[in-house]
Amino acid sequence: MGFLRSGILVSAALAAVHARCVPRTSIDCSSLAGVSLGAGYSITSAEEYAAGEVIATDIINEISLCLVQGTISYGSNDVPVKNGANTLTWNLYLPLASDYNGRFIVIGNGGYAGVIDNGTMMEQLNLGYSAAGCDSGHSLAADGNGTYASFLGNTAEVEAWIHNSIAMTTTLTRELTTEYYATAPEYSYYYGCSTGGAQGFALAQFYPDLFDGIYAGSPGNWYSHLVLSFLWNGLHTAGTGYMSQDALNFITASVISACDSIDGVVDGLIENPLLCDYDITQLECTSGQSSTDTNGTVVCLTSAQITAAEAVYAGPKNVLTGDAVYPGLSFGSENGWIYQETILYEDFTTLILEEIVFDDLAYNVSSFNWGSDVSKVDSIASPLIDEISTNLSSFQKQGGKMIVTQGWADQFNAATWPIQHLEQLQAAMGADTVNSFFELFMVPGGGHCGSNPEYTHVPGTYNVLDVLVPWVEQGIQPTQMESITPPDGTNTTRKLCPWPKTAHHVKGDVDDWTSYTCSES
Ligand SMILES: *[C@@H]1O[C@H](CO)[C@@H](O)[C@H](O)[C@H]1NC(C)=O
Ligand SMILES: *[C@@H]1O[C@H](CO)[C@@H](O)[C@H](O)[C@H]1NC(C)=O
Ligand SMILES: *[C@@H]1O[C@H](CO)[C@@H](O)[C@H](O)[C@H]1NC(C)=O
Ligand SMILES: *[C@@H]1O[C@H](CO)[C@@H](O)[C@H](O)[C@H]1NC(C)=O
Ligand SMILES: *[C@@H]1O[C@H](CO)[C@@H](O)[C@H](O)[C@H]1NC(C)=O
Ligand SMILES: *[C@@H]1O[C@H](CO)[C@@H](O)[C@H](O)[C@H]1NC(C)=O
Repeated sequence: MGFLRSGILVSAALAAVHARCVPRTSIDCSSLAGVSLGAGYSITSAEEYAAGEVIATDIINEISLCLVQGTISYGSNDVPVKNGANTLTWNLYLPLASDYNGRFIVIGNGGYAGVIDNGTMMEQLNLGYSAAGCDSGHSLAADGNGTYASFLGNTAEVEAWIHNSIAMTTTLTRELTTEYYATAPEYSYYYGCSTGGAQGFALAQFYPDLFDGIYAGSPGNWYSHLVLSFLWNGLHTAGTGYMSQDALNFITASVISACDSIDGVVDGLIENPLLCDYDITQLECTSGQSSTDTNGTVVCLTSAQITAAEAVYAGPKNVLTGDAVYPGLSFGSENGWIYQETILYEDFTTLILEEIVFDDLAYNVSSFNWGSDVSKVDSIASPLIDEISTNLSSFQKQGGKMIVTQGWADQFNAATWPIQHLEQLQAAMGADTVNSFFELFMVPGGGHCGSNPEYTHVPGTYNVLDVLVPWVEQGIQPTQMESITPPDGTNTTRKLCPWPKTAHHVKGDVDDWTSYTCSES
């Protein structure tokens, strides 16, 4: 705060006092372009559009909006400065005053980012939010293609990516929101998944005062070790251990048939994979048996495939200490492993090891030492890209509320990491304290930030804000969450529960979330 000229700050502060008593108003959109900003901040356009005039990633503006775009130049310590060497690009969608709900929301990024998640911003605009987003401090387009992330060679851009870009964006765009309505937003929310989930944890840890409510989906917040799990899984499933999509679906079908009914409902899903006791060696081909029948259908697994699958379930281990480097993947998630076998370690681990850890573009990931090199990752990469503090007391004490979602069949992230991290937080801060501001919702059959495409009957949209907003604004602690819109196009809804609770069928339609109750099993 404090970079706008002082007169504006004073009027905004006075206006905030009256926020709830006066009808909302807004100034002319284009006049925002003339607002004087602090060093490093610039506005490239501020223009009003009527409903239906703007399309953002397939989503149209259902209401008029004031669309403001600009940049932040920042220096080596990620502080906005005039003529900083690095450029962050941001977007702000402001509803006209009559549609504004008084809330400000910032949308996070996915993967290496480099683009703004305009589509999710537009969804929030249509609900009446002032919605902001950024490219996380670098443009991938400038790097030529989406898989080679040259920003990884620039330490400031790496720190901006997960740790600081959202905070830089928030400070400016919230001031502009205040300027536009002549009053500060009543509440501020953050909403992100995947890398965006990690960005959510970074906000709670490094910028605990910025947000009232944080949503962090499929959080890659132990990023440095998450990418080591990609490498472990990639290397262990290479060569003879490789499992085709058909082989993976064959495993999942077998696991589901063994564990589906544990929760009392046969729905093609495992409600709680931790209760599933499954031995994959039962799928091993008998001596001389071919793994496919004459029609090419997978009927068993080779011993190399069994060994590979066991390594993926186990997760990477440190050869010096024997400690887990990262959790393994869960029963029922196998049908999403094709990503682990191929692109994840190639796209993420290779570049992060080459650019950040070893500073060697010819580094051969097969030579990674699962003892000494883990320490190297911890000392070099972790301070730049992880956000795993178990002390979130500053965020908790200012009244912040945080919701995490995690799919049990996430194609990217080991599902049990968020459970482990919840338990770490509880051990450090006390379970009652953590439970009063932080909730984790595990999603049976859920994928990475939505559906696992092989689980077509599992709703992939989680109505997070429906429970986060009442928690923040009215102190109503969420006891359940609805998930909707499965890929199969049916009207199936499911009940998601705050871990360690899971959904238990009470009566009625098994595909209707109201037929369930949340309880510990
Ligand atoms: C969407 O974001 C990109 C930057 O990633 C920006 O260039 C473009 O103008 C944005 N479009 C809309 C409609 O906001
Ligand atoms: C992306 O760019 C990098 C670096 O220039 C290059 O090595 C790689 O082959 C490119 N990938 C694609 C898919 O174009
Ligand atoms: C192969 O497919 C045909 C036609 O669907 C079927 O009749 C036959 O039983 C199948 N063979 C095996 C070994 O499953
Ligand atoms: C990387 O190392 C592995 C194992 O030592 C070796 O098989 C492979 O050929 C190497 N790859 C390259 C590109 O040198
Ligand atoms: C947690 O962080 C707060 C704020 O930085 C600090 O005052 C407190 O001592 C920390 N608690 C522990 C147990 O380290
Ligand atoms: C879903 O619900 C809507 C509204 O009740 C109904 O019109 C539609 O037919 C339902 N679709 C399916 C696939 O059941």
